[in-house]
Amino acid sequence: MNVSDNYRDNWESYWRGTSDATGEAIWDCDPALSAEPHSKLFLPHADTTRTIVDLGCGNGTQTRYLATRFARAVGVDLSHAAIEHARRAADGAPVEFQQLDLTDTGAVKALHDRLGDSNVYMRAVIHQSEPAARAAVAAAVAEIIGSEGRAFVVELTSGSRDVLKRATDDPEGPPAKLRRVFDHGLKPADADDQEILRLLAEAGLQVLADGETTLPQTEYLADGTRIDLPARWFVLAGK
Ligand SMILES: C[S@@+](CC[C@H](N)C(=O)[O-])C[C@H]1O[C@@H](n2cnc3c(N)ncnc32)[C@H](O)[C@@H]1O
Repeated sequence: MNVSDNYRDNWESYWRGTSDATGEAIWDCDPALSAEPHSKLFLPHADTTRTIVDLGCGNGTQTRYLATRFARAVGVDLSHAAIEHARRAADGAPVEFQQLDLTDTGAVKALHDRLGDSNVYMRAVIHQSEPAARAAVAAAVAEIIGSEGRAFVVELTSGSRDVLKRATDDPEGPPAKLRRVFDHGLKPADADDQEILRLLAEAGLQVLADGETTLPQTEYLADGTRIDLPARWFVLAGK
């Protein structure tokens, strides 16, 4: 099941309307708060001489950090505009970006054929994917890692809905960066916690380690508190 034209257009228009300013996308936090602590959890399980592929890399902020920890880093995203952002931001850094839809099984297989069994980093992609496309996104993780790579997947949990509701219910309306997400028809924290576990298992992925965390956002509640969205991380192996 591929993504719908509407979903694709929503992401394309979101990224076309996003400037190159650091942190303009609400999830675009400093890697010191995300890919760096995630790497501490992931590196004991991963062969860093293998490539890391950042699935749904957005503007590539986390991918650029991963390039400092792995032999080679490749970021892929559904949105052409996101990939253009990522390439501009790379500014000569040793990192590659490619437009790719994770639900396009042929394209995912071709990427695996090109790179061999690789490591995967995937931050906050399944939780907002269209329900019918989620299994294909999980299957893409399994395809890219093959038998030798490992994956680090981190997804918003249902606890995020309460935090998002608090932000949305603010008498002054949701903060601007969050409003822009909703205005583009994007649906954060739409997947249930059990569903994510089931999708990973059905893709043949085995959980080597997991735990709770938050994904710090670049936006704040009216009381000045940073929006930190509850999330769960998984280190995964294939078959
Ligand atoms: C919430 S953003 C997270 C971006 C990035 N992973 C990060 O943490 O900064 C989700 C990203 O997934 C991408 N995406 C959504 N569905 C996708 C798909 N089917 N294939 C590839 N990328 C996808 C979107 O374009 C968007 O950039």
